[in-house]
Amino acid sequence: MKLAVLKERRPYETRVAATPESVKKLIALGFQVNVEKGAGEASHFPDEAYKAAGATIGATPQKTLEKAQIVLKVQAPMTKKDGGEDELSLLPEGSLLLGLLSSHAKSELIAAYNKHKITAFSLELAPRITRAQAIDVLSSQSNLAGYRAVIEAANTFERAFPMMMTAAGTIAPARVLVLGAGVAGLQAIATAKRLGAIVSVFDVRAAAKEQVESLGGTFIEVDSQETGEASGGYAKEMSDVYKARQAAKIKEVLQKSDVAISTALIPGKPAPRLITADMVAGMKPGSVIVDLAVEAGGNCEGSELGKVVEKNGVKIVGYANIPGRIPTDASSVYARNLLNLLTLCVDKGALTIPWEDEIIQAIALTRDGKALKAL
Ligand code: NAI
Repeated sequence: MKLAVLKERRPYETRVAATPESVKKLIALGFQVNVEKGAGEASHFPDEAYKAAGATIGATPQKTLEKAQIVLKVQAPMTKKDGGEDELSLLPEGSLLLGLLSSHAKSELIAAYNKHKITAFSLELAPRITRAQAIDVLSSQSNLAGYRAVIEAANTFERAFPMMMTAAGTIAPARVLVLGAGVAGLQAIATAKRLGAIVSVFDVRAAAKEQVESLGGTFIEVDSQETGEASGGYAKEMSDVYKARQAAKIKEVLQKSDVAISTALIPGKPAPRLITADMVAGMKPGSVIVDLAVEAGGNCEGSELGKVVEKNGVKIVGYANIPGRIPTDASSVYARNLLNLLTLCVDKGALTIPWEDEIIQAIALTRDGKALKAL
């Protein structure tokens, strides 16, 4: 079973789909692994470490992909339209492609996968069930994104997070508001608490309250009977009445906050706009907002992808690909997610995809030239 690991070429991408540690385990499963030269460089995994783990190094994407049956990627392969290397056209016919494909899985891409008879698995589509936790890339990456968002906030904030009682007087603790208490939000709460901040939290799902409180955060409730719980534990879009009440509460809390970390997402929809320009204007100068939802349109009005912008003395951080800002760890857990998925697909040293498995049914976009789902 020949397996290829390509270098990532999309903007802001620093992660890699296999690490020396995962390569060793892939080889033990029966794979021959070929890693493209420099694939792990941005995550600090040198070619030598892959070689020591038993991989061969491919000098070019063409050479790396030669006769590959399985191709591991972080992001969807680049196409002619993206400019640069047209990776998609290089994928061997009939190969199995694993990656975070759905954000780029437009209908023309699905057609291209089919044309090359690529079987494409998009790992973000894995169900949020206990058995799928070991391959849950959304969790592994969001967890690190939540942590890193607080570190970015602390770095941008020109004051201290913890309360400090010194002979020269007392420094008040920072007040942090976290919007959205999913995987990223919960890790942001834990990280901000560890740094000594006082943390308040909003979420539309009532189930989040207990989790927030167990981490020492204060859950802020909107006066409404409406519940934001949709299927699979995800959130739904709320009514206009709820949104207006929530906005009034957020505005009130933001005026007293020093830092806001927004993580709110709704599957298949643009991110909810929770912080308006008017709310930003009401914040204290020197405050910081980190908009983790910037790639989905942003929770904060005025946030810009890949930039830190300043409005009325408030800094709005819109870094793209926050997991990519902690690439060694993000790659390590992502690579383990892929390894766990491939373990499901190998039987006695041969690639045997369990097509009836609900995890495979959820993540499979295409199979041998046929589209399995519309995105
Ligand atoms: P997500 O990334 O889709 O959304 C982030 C958070 O934003 C969610 O908590 C959501 O409720 C919240 N949100 C959406 N609209 C909002 C609004 N208008 N105002 C405030 N908050 C808003 O969520 P994530 O992290 O992917 O988690 C989704 C669900 O999956 C959660 O219920 C989580 O507990 C569950 N989960 C289950 C797993 C398992 O059992 N294997 C693993 C990971 C997550």
